[in-house]
This record gives sequence, structure tokens and C-alpha cells, in this order.
Amino acid sequence: MHRGRIADPDPDLRVCVALGHGEERPEAVVERGRALALQSASSPAVWKSYSGSIMLRKIDDDLWCADSIQRISAGFHLPARMTIVRLADGLWLHSPIAIDDALAAAIDELGPVRHLVAPNCFHHLHLGPASERWPEARVHAPLGLRSKREDLRIDADLTDRYATWSPAIEVIEIAGGPALSEFVFVHRPSATVIVCDLVFNMHEAQGVMTKLILRMVGAWQRVAQSKMWRRVIKDRAAASRSCARVLEHPCARVIMSHGEILEGADTHEQLRGALTWMLAEAA
Ligand SMILES: [Fe+2]
Repeated sequence: MHRGRIADPDPDLRVCVALGHGEERPEAVVERGRALALQSASSPAVWKSYSGSIMLRKIDDDLWCADSIQRISAGFHLPARMTIVRLADGLWLHSPIAIDDALAAAIDELGPVRHLVAPNCFHHLHLGPASERWPEARVHAPLGLRSKREDLRIDADLTDRYATWSPAIEVIEIAGGPALSEFVFVHRPSATVIVCDLVFNMHEAQGVMTKLILRMVGAWQRVAQSKMWRRVIKDRAAASRSCARVLEHPCARVIMSHGEILEGADTHEQLRGALTWMLAEAA
């Protein structure tokens, strides 16, 4: 397992972790055997084959997910999702999780991997191993990740309205929070909004502390933002304008890194409701 050097999080980010969101850290990786032990048989959070490999889940045309469990700290475990989109030139992987040979083979059957995306400065742990597995793929990440993970190969800095891949995916930066530097992606053909930590939709918990922590940050059994954002955002008006841009798009589905995928007729309104705190500062 690749465990490249990772700089200590700055004080704000340590606060964020304490508030209920985990940055990906080497010690947070759940080893395979332990991950299996953590999963309840009834949990739909992680789909695995009989051999224990994480399985792809088809969501829509040219759209798949693969889910894992991330151990953030003792007793605090969050599901973590990778989203895969097939573009004209190949596959686009959002927030790679730990990918074993079986999962990699399933991905390769979908097409050539062309893009690996770190959607913010917290989700980077498995980017290195993925870039080593698919050396031809371009690695895209927020600018801030370069100094934080000098060991990573990063080929392109994400920017607002990034346009170096297919126009099928719109890019929107959630401005005003440079320490996290979250980017949201809209898959136009399926009207799917793909977010990382912008909103949670957690309804099942593994780990004795998980439910308590998520309640504390206001992200338990509801479509909601973690209160982490109130620490991260330094320019709320800018963040508000970013969220307004996200909501300009049709939204039939929200895929988030943590929690159940949101679908249904009221998806757009649920997303708007989850963003109420940020939107309150709309200019
Ligand atoms: Fe996260």
C-alpha cells in the first residue's frame, strides 16, 4: 500500500476533523480484513463480491460507483465513495478509493482510465496508488494539494470552469474555503451533481462514535452540510455564489462521497435545503 508523505493538517483542518469530518490519512485506511469485520451483513453501504473485493455499482448510463469504508479515528468510520464516469475519451475517476486488482479489472472492462480526480484537499490518500496503476491517466487536483502532497504526481490543477476534458462534465469550485478547496462536478447527460464533502446523506453508521459525531455536526439522517464548513469557509459570500451556480443546473441525482445517493423528484430542493447556510450570504 502506498503511504506517501503527508504534511500535518493545519490547525483549522484539525478542528474540522474534530468536528466530524475526516481528512484521509494513512492511519485512517481500513485494512481489508478489518473492513469486512466492520460491515454489517445488511448494510447496503458497501457492495462486495464473495471474494471480498469492492464491486462496481451501475448508477446510470456511463455512470458507476464503488463504495468503501474509511476509518477516520477510533470508533468513527465513514463510507467513502468513488464515482466513475465514462467520457468519450475514456474513464474519469472521482475520489479514488483503495483499488485492488479485482476492482481494477472491473474498471478496465469499462474502458481506459484517462482521468483521476482529487475533488478537494482532503480526499487524496488513494490518488497515488491509482496514478501508479494507470500511469497514462492524467491526475487532476486542487492547487493546494501540490504543496500538501509533494509526493503525488499531479498533472493538472483543477480550476473553475475547467475544460480540459469532455464538456459532459461541468466543473464548479466552491470558492471561499481554500484549505479544503472543494470542486463540484455536474455530469450533464444524467443530470447528476457529484460532490465530495459539500453535503452528506448518512443514515447508517458503523463504529461506536460515528452516529454521535454525525449528530454533533448536524449531518445524521438528513441531507445536510457538516458544520465543518463553518470553520472552513472564510468568504461565505463567495461560497454562496458557488452554490447558486451548482443549483443553476438540473439535478436528478446527487452523488456524494459520504452517504446514500440522493434521487427523486425533490432532489434539487433537497440539495438547496442542505446548502441553506451557505446560500444565506448570496449577493
Ligand atoms: Fe470526505
